[in-house]
Amino acid sequence: MSQAKEVRKLFLDFFAKRNHKIVPSSSLIPIDDPSVLLTTAGMQQFKKYFTGEKDALKDFGTQRTCSVQKCFRTTDIEEIGDERHLTFFEMLGNFSFGPVGKDDPSDFNDKSGYFKNSAIYWAYEFLVKELGLKIDYVTIFKGEDKIPYDQTSYQIWKDIGFDDKNIKEFGREDNFWGPTGDEGPCGPTTEIYIDNIEIWNLVFNEYYQDKNKKLIKLKNPGVDTGMGLERLMKVVEKKETIFETSLFLPLKEIIFDQRIDLEIRKYRIIADHLRGAVFLISDGLYPSNLERGYILRRILRRLVLYLKLSRLNLDIIGKLVKVVIENYKDFYPEINNYDKIINVIDKEVRIFEKTLMRSLAKFDKIIKINDAYEEIGEKLFLLFSSYGLPLEIAKEIFKERNWNWDNKIEEVFNKKYREHQKLSKGNG
Ligand code: GLY
Repeated sequence: MSQAKEVRKLFLDFFAKRNHKIVPSSSLIPIDDPSVLLTTAGMQQFKKYFTGEKDALKDFGTQRTCSVQKCFRTTDIEEIGDERHLTFFEMLGNFSFGPVGKDDPSDFNDKSGYFKNSAIYWAYEFLVKELGLKIDYVTIFKGEDKIPYDQTSYQIWKDIGFDDKNIKEFGREDNFWGPTGDEGPCGPTTEIYIDNIEIWNLVFNEYYQDKNKKLIKLKNPGVDTGMGLERLMKVVEKKETIFETSLFLPLKEIIFDQRIDLEIRKYRIIADHLRGAVFLISDGLYPSNLERGYILRRILRRLVLYLKLSRLNLDIIGKLVKVVIENYKDFYPEINNYDKIINVIDKEVRIFEKTLMRSLAKFDKIIKINDAYEEIGEKLFLLFSSYGLPLEIAKEIFKERNWNWDNKIEEVFNKKYREHQKLSKGNG
């Protein structure tokens, strides 16, 4: 862990020296942003500074901030288990708001807003000079939908010494970021790749996208950068994947100590979901059937499923929670709350363990690999309504068994579900 600790510090010190105010991570539960369920990016707590609704100079004494932000993304929950996806991660970011001043990266006295020149040069300097890494290539925005080609970023990378073949150009799909939720600041990006993974995303927030997806020019352009700590540690520590870095190693040791032949995908899911749950609970979330509470419930259920599939005893959870707390408590003191975290997890997982064991026994009795998809849909609905087996968990079980999953299964399940809802409303 010490290396990650060091990298966080190097990052914050680097930007503090350049007149950025170090701002602590905000909660994973956004405070006054109804457009998103959870915090997914470092810029979220600064949205109002980009739009000019709040004044950074007044609040921070400078137009620049930097942070290490706790983030949680649910878009790829089913992808977790591969080499690179995570639900919870930490994002290193530097930000600039307000009118752009000299934008001279060598001026250490300036506290005004900056733009592409400083943002790109500092990112280069931090990775190459501070961390001693080698950038493979960078990408820039090629222009699309009346948003112009990013000639300035191209020129800055050229001046730093990059060849044309190492400055790749892409459109909106790849090199335009934001907004988070339905509306907010957004803009073209330049992205830095090391070992073929995107390490740092520098967003030039020139626009505000409204609810109708219309782009409106912001009064002042801003800078919003995001660099995932786990990916960065993979290249700093020269590991095969993020799950072998010091951020995960203590969890890996405990899990493999109990089951030496465990399939790597299962380890990754268990480690990711456990770590994510600890952080969500320490920020005040409880499992429920509603919105963000359901996200927590979902990852805890998947945690139980994968512990069971791995033939691991649920008692391992306590050890894993302790290790996560130990690894992160210095930087995030709010997670130093073992009793509360373990109580919330334990209550949820013990109930779901019972549900799962009963429904799995029934599952094996009634569902056969050769059943027609419609029939499977009906049987899964029965398992859901009588035994409480959620469809998404059934889907995971299919995946684990390498059984085919077809949309028809879900269609029949959903039809049955709607009928059931109508019936219970009618009765009520
Ligand atoms: N806000 C930039 C990023 O999340 O990549």
